[in-house]
Amino acid sequence: MSILVTGGAGYIGSHTVVELQNAGYDVVVIDNLSNSSEKSLKRVEAITGKPVKFYKADILDREALEEIFSKEKLDSCIHFAGLKAVGESVAKPWEYYNNNITGTLTLVDVMRKHDVKNIIFSSSATVYGNPAQIPITEECPKGQCTNPYGWTKSMLEQILSDIQKADPQWNVVLLRYFNPIGAHKSGTIGENPNGIPNNLMPYITQVAVGKLPQLGVFGNDYDTPDGTGVRDYIHVVDLAKGHVKALRKIEEKSGLSIYNLGTGVGYSVLDIIRNFEEATGVRIPYVIKDRRPGDIATCYSDASKAEKELGWKAQFGIREMCEDSWRWQSSNPNGYED
Ligand code: NAD
Ligand code: UFG
Repeated sequence: MSILVTGGAGYIGSHTVVELQNAGYDVVVIDNLSNSSEKSLKRVEAITGKPVKFYKADILDREALEEIFSKEKLDSCIHFAGLKAVGESVAKPWEYYNNNITGTLTLVDVMRKHDVKNIIFSSSATVYGNPAQIPITEECPKGQCTNPYGWTKSMLEQILSDIQKADPQWNVVLLRYFNPIGAHKSGTIGENPNGIPNNLMPYITQVAVGKLPQLGVFGNDYDTPDGTGVRDYIHVVDLAKGHVKALRKIEEKSGLSIYNLGTGVGYSVLDIIRNFEEATGVRIPYVIKDRRPGDIATCYSDASKAEKELGWKAQFGIREMCEDSWRWQSSNPNGYED
């Protein structure tokens, strides 16, 4: 079985390539390297001992896709490629809609022409907006997104669902990720944000390694146990394994399916700081700041559908998430630039 992984040089993609190769799949990666380094794939090869076939290509480039699909015999696609910075998407909506939506439409068009009609799509808990219920099940209605990035996920879910409905030969799995953190145990691949991180864990690890002076905690007056935002953090290796399980589902000709990938456990920002300090012995200075616009108080999953239907359940706890994030950051203070 040969799997096309778009965005495979990125954070979640590179971890998923490891799990796919470990499970015996052949992998073809395409990535335009707009937010990643080819070095991640060299390190994947060192972890698995298998070569990764890589094309530096853009999913907006129809000709490049045509050439790849003509050359490779592909069975399914795991589609990670996309822009993902929430704040940037507010400033550059056209770029986000074009890259994520036009890019996916182009990819899917080339896929169907080559009769490759199996796709796993990286969606997000952001599609629930301010969730109508906690924990969030897949039946929870989709909500109002607070930024163009979120809308691209919500719209692409709709687009892929409509395509599957019109042509039942398609098998589509929408995976709604909660908050991926952590890194591969080897400490050789991990999250490598450009510039100052937006997300909590990379910010914490950059404070810990001395690149940033202190963490700002965005609000301590939410209706949560300690007033700070509560999220469902999931180890990226568990998330990656969820994709291998989703592929097995696709092989059963599953039509359209939707799964939350989370742990079902919520941690506050202060919980994360405490757990990180305990796991690593490094103190994280912080100050309380104003709420960040668009943030919600609480977001965690009910992940029982994935357990029941995919046989997937997150294995790693918060301590390992913190230890592994730190191993990656401390041994690669400048990410793949080292
Ligand atoms: P990432 O930026 O590390 O990986 C995305 C990859 O896609 C990058 O390597 C980038 O170079 C590539 N890419 C972007 N546009 C492309 C294009 N037009 N053509 C080819 N390659 C392109 O991000 P990630 O954290 O690994 O996220 C992977 C996917 O999961 C994204 O779709 C993201 O929106 C989604 N997601 C991420 C999170 C999260 O918190 N990390 C949460 C929910 C969903
Ligand atoms: N936070 C801080 N300080 C920071 C960064 C974050 O206090 O410097 C807080 C936030 O206010 C929030 C929590 O830490 O309460 C988590 O914030 P993140 O930015 O790490 O994650 P979000 O839940 O805001 O969003 C992430 C991704 C989205 C995705 C969503 C759900 O950035 O793309 O998870 O999957 F949609």
